[in-house]
Amino acid sequence: MLLFRQMELEDLETVQSIDKLAFPNPWPENAFQYELEKNTNARLWVGEFQDGEKSTIVALAVIWIILDEAHIGTIAIHPGYQNRGFGRQFLAFICKKLISEKITQIFLEVRQSNSAAINLYQKFGFTIDGERKHYYRDNNETAILMSAPIRNSDFYDQFLLDCQFTYDNDSKEIQER
Ligand SMILES: CC(C)(COP(=O)(O)OP(=O)(O)OC[C@H]1O[C@@H](n2cnc3c(N)ncnc32)[C@H](O)[C@@H]1OP(=O)(O)O)[C@@H](O)C(=O)NCCC(=O)NCCS
Repeated sequence: MLLFRQMELEDLETVQSIDKLAFPNPWPENAFQYELEKNTNARLWVGEFQDGEKSTIVALAVIWIILDEAHIGTIAIHPGYQNRGFGRQFLAFICKKLISEKITQIFLEVRQSNSAAINLYQKFGFTIDGERKHYYRDNNETAILMSAPIRNSDFYDQFLLDCQFTYDNDSKEIQER
């Protein structure tokens, strides 16, 4: 079972290690801590894989909110847990949280070569708005700019309903049904 919750300070070491495993250019040391402690416009979530008594953080995301718009700063699933539907579940959770904050549109940029992420985003109704050449400094790669309207959209209402999540009202967490 996957359980999603807000990131906490105690999670930072694990979060940084997943970031390093998942990306060729991980965030600088202390970047997650800054977002967690100082940036009131940031929303940080993790996904925990629960297997019996054992609980392992396998997903991380940082989202920035500006008025009624959100920008995906980063999102990743631990490489050992990819291709099991966790990315889809996590993004659905994030979209629901953002809708509950009255966000109308989500923006992001993604490496042109990252077909896994681009496919995932397209499944969530993201479309390509443009590109930024030489955006990634490590290999000069082009960034693809994508966005999705997440409110007042029949597609989204139905899509997120189909994701079949339940809220745990006591803990304010969300878990897969
Ligand atoms: C992108 C990422 C979050 C997807 O997470 P995931 O848990 O592996 O994805 P899921 O198993 O939920 O797959 C959901 C959809 O994503 C797409 N997808 C996932 N892995 C894919 C792959 N290797 N190749 C092509 N499409 C893929 C598919 O459309 C898939 O739907 P399908 O199973 O119906 O075909 C994950 O690969 C990851 O963390 N990558 C490294 C970090 C990263 O690139 N983050 C995005 C930065 S913009």
